[in-house]
Amino acid sequence: MKFSSRVQADLAPNRLTHALERRRAEGRPYVDLTESNPTRAGFDYPADLLVPLGNRRGLTYSPQPFGVMEARRAVADDYARRGLTVGPEHIVLTVSSSDAYSLLFRVLCDPGDQVLVPRPSYPLFEHLGRLDAVTIIPYDLEYHSAWSIDVASVERALSDRTRVLLVVTPNNPTGSYVKSHELDRLAAICAAREVALIADEVFADYELVPGASRSSGRVLARRDVLTFSLGGLSKSVGLPQVKLGWIGVGGPTTAVERSLARLEFACDTYLSVSTPVQLAAPELLERGASLRRQIQARVTANYNHLAARGAAIPTCEVLNAEGGWYAIVRVPSLCPEEELVLNLLADADVLTHPGYFFDFAHESHLVVSLLVSEARFREGVSHMFRYLESSGRQA
Ligand SMILES: Cc1ncc(COP(=O)(O)O)c(C=O)c1O
Repeated sequence: MKFSSRVQADLAPNRLTHALERRRAEGRPYVDLTESNPTRAGFDYPADLLVPLGNRRGLTYSPQPFGVMEARRAVADDYARRGLTVGPEHIVLTVSSSDAYSLLFRVLCDPGDQVLVPRPSYPLFEHLGRLDAVTIIPYDLEYHSAWSIDVASVERALSDRTRVLLVVTPNNPTGSYVKSHELDRLAAICAAREVALIADEVFADYELVPGASRSSGRVLARRDVLTFSLGGLSKSVGLPQVKLGWIGVGGPTTAVERSLARLEFACDTYLSVSTPVQLAAPELLERGASLRRQIQARVTANYNHLAARGAAIPTCEVLNAEGGWYAIVRVPSLCPEEELVLNLLADADVLTHPGYFFDFAHESHLVVSLLVSEARFREGVSHMFRYLESSGRQA
């Protein structure tokens, strides 16, 4: 039987997955510092939060490619909450951000065209690109006390086949916002080559340092380049299981109109977003604010704790982050990252992610989720640093 190369042939689990399976089978507990599912992180979800999904009007099916207008208006209002003006007619509802990426890749790219993505960043880009037959090309982010975009690496990555430049702001896992001066340069590059700019803004609500988002670029406010801003309930109100995302479309009028026409055709072909979730969206966005506040308080407290603990350990460095749900600890390269993560699990009972999952240019980094409940986070961080200190002394 022949299968498409859009799905890689080698689907074998990696060593960490095997180790975790063994560990669970043995029933030996560990602190999971990779938990990034908000519904499993001990937040106080109101018991009746999902009642709006039972709206009686959901019994009638009246399909609309971009979604019902009241939901699109609620999303536009949500952008307004963040100080961005976008009309509801420029909002496209999707099932998730993965769904949004897929739609945009299919509308903007032919098979084999190229999408530039930041490195390090979200590990799913490689799979998302492959499934839609586009080639993912990395450009670099650099760290010198703060993360910045290596614009020269963007220029080097460009080719005649580049159709999309993708930014994640704040980025997973670096926590860096794309600054307005960086956005100016990227927009100039895109405008000159008719390349579209996609900004994944799913973590936009979560500042780790107060005011950090103020210097970030406003993608949807641009008029010189075609832009797509991605968001969703998954992160903005901690409801990944409800499955509602969106795309805000901005830029020069003609390019916006032409892309909306194509997106409408693609959305009309699939009609993926369920009617109940669309009808519930206005209330979920409003009531979900209480979850957002809880998540915000948690990630800030955990980040501050990690930074304070890390500052006391000379061999490790907690990298400065500005926003999002993740933090990075730079550690001495005494052994390969994968080995280190396996040892931390076996000998210190703590699970972290190795930097190579996120395509860091070099080793060694550990990535932790800031979503973990505060007591567990402190316990895990204490295990992690104790192990790193003692292995540093032995080296
Ligand atoms: C940068 C980034 N974009 C998108 C997502 C996923 O969002 P969704 O659940 O809407 O697909 C994640 C999840 O971790 C992410 O890190």
